[in-house]
Formats: sequence, structure tokens, C-alpha cells
Amino acid sequence: MFPGIRHHPPVHSPLPATAVAWGAAALISGRDSRAELGDLLRRRYAADGAWLTRSGTHALQRGLELAACERGSRCVALPAYGCYDLAAAAIGANLEVVLYDLDPATLAPDPDSVEAALRRGARLVVAASLFGFPVPWAELEAVAAPHEAFLLEDAAQGLGGAWEGRPIGSFGDMTILSFGRGKGWTGGAGGALLTRGEGAAIGLAPSKAGSGLRSIGLAAAMWALGRPTTYGIPASLPFLGLGETRYRAPTDPEELPAACAAVLLAGRPAAEEEASRRRAAGDRWSSVLESTSQARPIRPGIGGAPGFLRYPVRLPQGMHGFADPREVRRLGIAPGYPAPLSSLPQLAARQIAAQGRFPGAEVLVRELVTLPTHSWLKPVEWEAALAAVRSYRSGTAHHRGHTGSANGRRPASASPEGAVP
Ligand SMILES: Cc1ncc(COP(=O)(O)O)c(C=O)c1O
Repeated sequence: MFPGIRHHPPVHSPLPATAVAWGAAALISGRDSRAELGDLLRRRYAADGAWLTRSGTHALQRGLELAACERGSRCVALPAYGCYDLAAAAIGANLEVVLYDLDPATLAPDPDSVEAALRRGARLVVAASLFGFPVPWAELEAVAAPHEAFLLEDAAQGLGGAWEGRPIGSFGDMTILSFGRGKGWTGGAGGALLTRGEGAAIGLAPSKAGSGLRSIGLAAAMWALGRPTTYGIPASLPFLGLGETRYRAPTDPEELPAACAAVLLAGRPAAEEEASRRRAAGDRWSSVLESTSQARPIRPGIGGAPGFLRYPVRLPQGMHGFADPREVRRLGIAPGYPAPLSSLPQLAARQIAAQGRFPGAEVLVRELVTLPTHSWLKPVEWEAALAAVRSYRSGTAHHRGHTGSANGRRPASASPEGAVP
């Protein structure tokens, strides 16, 4: 179906060789462009303060610690479907957790469920723009305001998206960004905590940053092995865990190494260009999938313009309904998160009460698949991905039949792991 050795990552974060070279040069010369990057982020995302961190998780953890002090509350509401790093940050900040459900049609927080979380005592709410789909902020603010809840925007996956004309990343009392591998704009590693309002950044005591040698090494590896002709190599090495959603225990928040800032500044134009191509690809998927009866694309809420880090679509059996789930992964088609946060064992002791079911999150775990939106996909590969969606078969007979395939391997998505960055 898809000849050759090419293997697409689900997301492409462009990393020009010159950007890696700038990072290496900063490593040698000690040049520090973090203030420049911080200024850029403050301007772009309407923030008063910017604290650059080694990862998005570090930014979220520190943001939660600050917000907990400010609100005098140790209880945070997290989405029941999302990146496991949300849980890690809450655990790292030593908070109790209540979960709220998402609307599986839009990925937006379910207002009734957020309200219930607030009634259970949460005074901090994290809202994430999954796959670049903006959160409808007016709705969320209306639910949060009577409880005086602190809103923390997780814009890790939001690059290139907007809500009501403002970029994802410019909402809430605080915002976190990620510059990790699969976020569209990467520095090898990195994150940022953006604060709004007077005095919000007072608690941001400086902490140590590493040399950046490891991150620049990582950036160089991404440059060499992140392309379709080479990605098959790291993707086939199980210990790297590419294409898997794993819980990573929290660590002490650190600052962004200066060398990563140099990579980010040099790589920004390419990241912006790729983001606009992704939006065009997302619109294209939306128009062709209108006529594909089994596919239920996620719809942005009113006023939302997704960044389409990936194109999320609901298919009756998730990855299981593809004729060959392993093969479609080579086209950059990937499963969503493999389990709701409510079933994470690490979170069990942190949840303030048994909360029952999260039907929206459960639907998303079962059905959500993402299609690639990046510019590395050749027209013929895009056609192959579309053909795979069109020939998708629902019904358990097909899935059972495939499990006993000639090569004896299980479909990839039968593994407990998903593939979201
Ligand atoms: C929604 C969301 N928040 C936070 C993070 C954490 O970012 P990082 O990988 O930079 O720690 C991720 C990473 O996958 C994410 O997807």
C-alpha cells in the first residue's frame, strides 16, 4: 500500500541545520539569547512575565506551585483526557487533583463537569489545547469566575491556532508552552511559563540551567533522524519509546539552557511557515472527510481556528479498524492517548474522591486517531492516508481477523501505549 522505507512522524517540528549550528555556537561562545526569546514570547502571547524552562512539564509544575500559593488552594482540576505530563506536573507541585470531562465532539472542557470539579474544591483549572484545538475561553471563564478559580492555559500543543483572533497561548491567568520534539517549534527541549498581571512572577526564583549539551545533542539527533527517510530507525527502537505515551515522573524545575534559546530563535521562521502549512492541510482534511461516513472529525468551537498540530478524527474502533494498523503508522497516522488520566496509577492517591466515569474521555480513548498535517507528506502519501481512512472498516470481525495476521504480530494500537508527544 505504501512502498519504500519512508516512515512519517505524526508531527514535524522543523529544525534547520542552521538552527542546530546556532545552538552549538552558543554552547561554545556562551552567548545568551534567553532575554530576547522571553521578550518575543511576552509580546506574542500578551504576557507580562516569561520564565523559560527546560520543558513544558517544568513550566506547568512551577506555574501550579505559584497559582496554588496565590489562590491559597492545593487542589487542581485537570482534563480527564490528555497528556500524562499534566498529572506529573500536578504531582510534582504536590497538589490534589480532580478531573473534568471533555466534549468528545470538540475536545473542549465540558462546562458542567468543570463546574462539578470546582464544587469539589478545585480552585486551579488547567485547560489544554489538544492537537492545536483552542479552548473556548469565554465559556470556561464564565464557569470559573463565580468560584474565583485560577485558569492556567496549557498551550503546549497550540502553536499556530487561535481563538477569536488571538493566538492560543495568550489566555488565562498563566500560560505554559512546550518546545519539545513534537510541538511544532523545538529547541531540542524547552518550555515557558507566561504570567499575566502585576506581581504574578514574584515567586519565580531563578534556578539552575544545565549546559545545554544534551539538548543540542538531542536537536542534532532530531535533525538527522526526524525525517521520513530516517525516522523508521528510531521508531523501531522500543527503548526510545517513540510513538508511546508514557508517564514520566516529575523532576525539579530547571531553567532553559541558553543554547536551546539560540536554536529556538533561529528555528522560528521555519516553525511559523510549517504552522501555516499545517493549517492548510487541516482544512483540506476537513473538506475531504465530510464525505467519509465513518470518520467524525473534531470540530472547533465557535471562534476557534485550530493550529492542527495533528488532525484529530474519531473512528469507531480507533486504530483497530485500519486494515493494517502498523502500516498506516508509517504514514504518520497515530492513536490518541491510550487511557484517561483517571486510570493513571500514579494519580490514584492524589484524586480527592472517586469521581465515577468520564464518558467523553472514554470515547476519545477508544476512538481518537490523528492524521498527519505536516509538509513532509508527499501528495501520493496523503492519498494513501486518505485511502486508508476511506477503507476503514468498523465491526469486530475485521479486528479479530487481523489480530491473527500472517506475521503473527498484534496491531500496534492493541498495545497499551498511544502515540501522542
Ligand atoms: C498538553 C501537554 N502539556 C504539557 C506537555 C509537557 O511538555 P514537555 O514535553 O515539554 O515537558 C505536553 C507534552 O507532550 C503536552 O502535550
